[in-house]
Amino acid sequence: MIRINQDRKKKNVKRESWGSQAGFLLATVGSAVGLGNVWRFPTVTALNGGGAFVLVYLVIILLLGLPVMIAELTLGRAGKSNVIGVFTRLAPRSKWWLAGVLPLAASFIILSFYAVIAGWTLLYIFSSLAGFTAGLDTAGLASLFAVLTETPVYPVAAQAVFLILTVAIVVVGVKKGIERWGLVLMPGIFLFLIILFIRTMFFKGVWSGIAWFLRPNLAALSFSTVLDAVGQVFFSFSLGMGAILTYGSYLPRDSDIPRNSFYISVVDLGVAILAGLIVIPSLFVFGLDPETGPGLIFITLPAVFNTIPLSMLWATLFFLLLAFAALTSAISMLEVIVAYLIEELRWTRFTAAAAAGAGVFLLGVPAALSRGVLRGVLIGGLDIFAFLDFIASNLMLPLGGLLLIIFVGWVWGVRKAAREIRTLGVGFRLEGAWSFLVRFVVPLAIGYILISGLRPKG
Ligand code: TRP
Repeated sequence: MIRINQDRKKKNVKRESWGSQAGFLLATVGSAVGLGNVWRFPTVTALNGGGAFVLVYLVIILLLGLPVMIAELTLGRAGKSNVIGVFTRLAPRSKWWLAGVLPLAASFIILSFYAVIAGWTLLYIFSSLAGFTAGLDTAGLASLFAVLTETPVYPVAAQAVFLILTVAIVVVGVKKGIERWGLVLMPGIFLFLIILFIRTMFFKGVWSGIAWFLRPNLAALSFSTVLDAVGQVFFSFSLGMGAILTYGSYLPRDSDIPRNSFYISVVDLGVAILAGLIVIPSLFVFGLDPETGPGLIFITLPAVFNTIPLSMLWATLFFLLLAFAALTSAISMLEVIVAYLIEELRWTRFTAAAAAGAGVFLLGVPAALSRGVLRGVLIGGLDIFAFLDFIASNLMLPLGGLLLIIFVGWVWGVRKAAREIRTLGVGFRLEGAWSFLVRFVVPLAIGYILISGLRPKG
């Protein structure tokens, strides 16, 4: 690994970089804003008593989300490399590069089932446009969902199409692919969100839902609320997996990392809250259960749209929103793998993106079939979907995040990190607070989460 880095210095291979500050911000917000905001956040909030959870979520963003995002961006920019390369460059002749293996594997696994759900959103864009969802009630929509996700050919084909789109963007490169598509897709996401939000505000009785969503009911607070909030912040901010690190590695020296991290966090939080304000009050108005799991967005919400005029328009907009958001996130997961293959194994971008896409597809096929022909196949008591999600999200993500933060806090060191942040006169007023959080609070919190995540639920 070290040899390879020396080779690169010799050959002086030109690394890619972002074309503009706005391009970087939109791409990174694109990584953060995904199914985690539009689907997971409203669900987790509903399960945790509404406003109380939102309050805890805010605190966890300040204590964990923001500091870890700053750490990942700084590590990436200082190492100017992929998730393995940053360790070999900043701690040469050590075993720290192993800390990059987990994020790499987690990217692969998470993308494989993320693409399956993203594929469903494509099926639903098509179904809404074709009128298949029109006029159906919850029961009708439940059978449509069964047909679309259990017949083998639909979910697998949709997953393939989604991955082809992802590969097609990543193949073109950081500036011309990822950045340019961010500039196209992100405004679309914001536009769809705002239109859907305004429409929701015109529902009669929307206020009781909003009140439930935002009123901090402190009695609903428990320790598991905090655990859920930590998991949600990590997932939604794309942390612990090298995605933010990889995007940070394409940053120019004069970029203001703390300020950018603040902007990205605020927008990601804002999108999650807007999505919550669309999903939760709609359910209240129509007296539907904030049911969890895929049913919430693929069955219940289309049922809500079907009770208002122009239902086809609203359903299409909503699934376009989901598909766009999933695409910009999937791009960042694929780029983690592609950057590694290009820089460490010296593959071309084309080979790297195509091979990684194909590998992710193959690994995802069992997940895509897990509601259909592979229903009932269990690994350790979990179906294939849940199994992949469990090992990646509950084990690899937190462990990867923990190693990364220990490296920044204790091995490479907060001093060097702060110096990197301050390059070219960028201010870092909160250095003291950040160092304390990164060295003590974040590792203890993640370590604890990791251990509690290992305990069998029941
Ligand atoms: N943040 C994205 C979402 O909210 C998902 C995502 C992209 C992600 N990259 C990641 C999650 C890296 C964990 C790690 O849907």
